Amino acid sequence: MFFKKRLPFTELFSEGFVDIHSHLLPGIDDGSKNLDQSILLIEQLRACGINQFITTPHVLGEVYPNTPEIIKEKLQLVKDELINRGINDIRLDAAAEYMLDDRFYSLLQEKNLLTLKDNYLLVECSFFNPPINLREILFEIQLAGYQPILAHPERYMFWHKNYEMFETLKSAGCLFQLNILSLTRHYGKEVYKTSEHLIKKGMIDFVGTDTHHSHHIELLQQEGDAKIIELLKPIAKRNSLFL
Ligand SMILES: [Fe+2]
Repeated sequence: MFFKKRLPFTELFSEGFVDIHSHLLPGIDDGSKNLDQSILLIEQLRACGINQFITTPHVLGEVYPNTPEIIKEKLQLVKDELINRGINDIRLDAAAEYMLDDRFYSLLQEKNLLTLKDNYLLVECSFFNPPINLREILFEIQLAGYQPILAHPERYMFWHKNYEMFETLKSAGCLFQLNILSLTRHYGKEVYKTSEHLIKKGMIDFVGTDTHHSHHIELLQQEGDAKIIELLKPIAKRNSLFL
């Protein structure tokens, strides 16, 4: 019997790691439900070795119509609570995860967008329908002066049988952020396979936890294929760009 060597995912969280994808602000998306939960999630992630976050609430049509003002207000609430509780070794900042929908277009025209840092913009597509003119949207984003980072490219099932699309998106100037959870098989076998493919092809630029709740953090404490984790280590180090 052959056993693959395994390593904990938490080895990816070395000094300087910044989690650039999570849903830690209370009550504004499908992540943390309230302030207590926000603090708990941050403490649980800190126990995994992460103490720097640029958390990214969804901005999604009428479902999560979060504005920079709403996000900043919630951010301040959590930061104040961290101080109240004497937690002072956490760096918490906020940006957003923008759904590439019609509403996004108007936000882009107004340039009313929160970036991870400088011009880096985290975007996502619908999981149900492949975007019709993604290349044009990516072009528009760059024309407006932003650098798009596509969240969890491995999770879009409509590309699982069409890996060439990833090459197309990369040559259209898009960067890729992989969810570490995709390697826990949390999202299924195809997502796992696609993650492996993208990592081995050197197509992943950054990683993120995409933490929504405590169960996600339990999964991050598991072990994964050591070879894949070794390949991911230098990629996780690139996250310190967002320090
Ligand atoms: Fe997310």
